[in-house]
Amino acid sequence: MTTPDLASEPAVVLDGVTKSYGEVRALDGVSFDVTRGEFFGILGPNGAGKTTLVEIVEGMRQADSGSVTVLGSAPWPRNLELLRRIGVQTQTSAFFTRLTAIEHLETVAALHGLERTTAGRALETVGLTDKARSRVDNLSGGQRQRLALATALIHEPDLIFLDEPTAALDPEARRSLWAVLRRLRTEGRTIVLTTHYLDEAEALCDRVAIIARGRLVALDTPSALVRGLAAPARLFVPADRITPDQARAIEGVDRVLVEGGEVVIETRAANRVLVAVGAFVDMSEIRTRTATLEDAYLRLTGTEHSSR
Ligand SMILES: Nc1ncnc2c1ncn2[C@@H]1O[C@H](COP(=O)(O)OP(=O)(O)OP(=O)(O)O)[C@@H](O)[C@H]1O
Ligand SMILES: [Mg+2]
Repeated sequence: MTTPDLASEPAVVLDGVTKSYGEVRALDGVSFDVTRGEFFGILGPNGAGKTTLVEIVEGMRQADSGSVTVLGSAPWPRNLELLRRIGVQTQTSAFFTRLTAIEHLETVAALHGLERTTAGRALETVGLTDKARSRVDNLSGGQRQRLALATALIHEPDLIFLDEPTAALDPEARRSLWAVLRRLRTEGRTIVLTTHYLDEAEALCDRVAIIARGRLVALDTPSALVRGLAAPARLFVPADRITPDQARAIEGVDRVLVEGGEVVIETRAANRVLVAVGAFVDMSEIRTRTATLEDAYLRLTGTEHSSR
């Protein structure tokens, strides 16, 4: 008999997980694996079951049926050995608000039985060192999100769960948090993140699971989900440069619409059509848009709603 290769064992294995709250079936037979070292996204509309799923995996809730394995162990009943190896940022983070940022983290470090110096390191990881002496209730929303991340990371967990970590952040703060998350991934940690920002999932995640009404409706890399759509590219041309009829006459054009002062040309032969449109308008005035994860998401979650 061979010993199982621990490194190749998935970080998380879900098999047929269900959970109801009274009449509400929050999870309806969800199965998937998260590979070690993977950046894994969970997407889905409000109430889809994402937080419920993440809480079951973290060991904060018990599934009604199905099996859950996290780093080789069952997370329920609460498993202290496992808790040491996972870091959790919940959707609503709790802080010791009257303390300074560094005092808050020192308190968290003490709860984990860690040395005080880990607090400073965690602050540095999230780029908050200059706010060490600021009181938590004086931090901005984005700084608090980073402090929440530092709180989840302080014990250097192998597996990190983040429930909407960048909700309510400004675009710059969001990107600097992305940089922190990317660095954690290069250190070999496994990251499971829920988000409503499709561009965020596309930028960060190796694979994404799309959940709708408690069911897994898609699981793949962002690029494969987008390719699966086979959606047309769109060219946007100022309406005073080309008429809809001129656009329709171009070979390879599938559909022409007029939207907000622009003629919108849909095509699956973007190169050829772009050259033809170039006879009417300078290239620099044409905006183009290809399918994104958002298009795939809207189609997948929309289909799920209408088919039930
Ligand atoms: N503690 C609870 N008691 C009763 N119903 C609950 C509870 N928590 C969640 N629900 C219900 O279960 C369903 C799934 O909720 P969940 O919080 O998992 O969704 P979510 O995907 O995280 O949504 P969001 O994007 O809004 O955070 C919803 O219909 C919700 O109302
Ligand atoms: Mg949620």
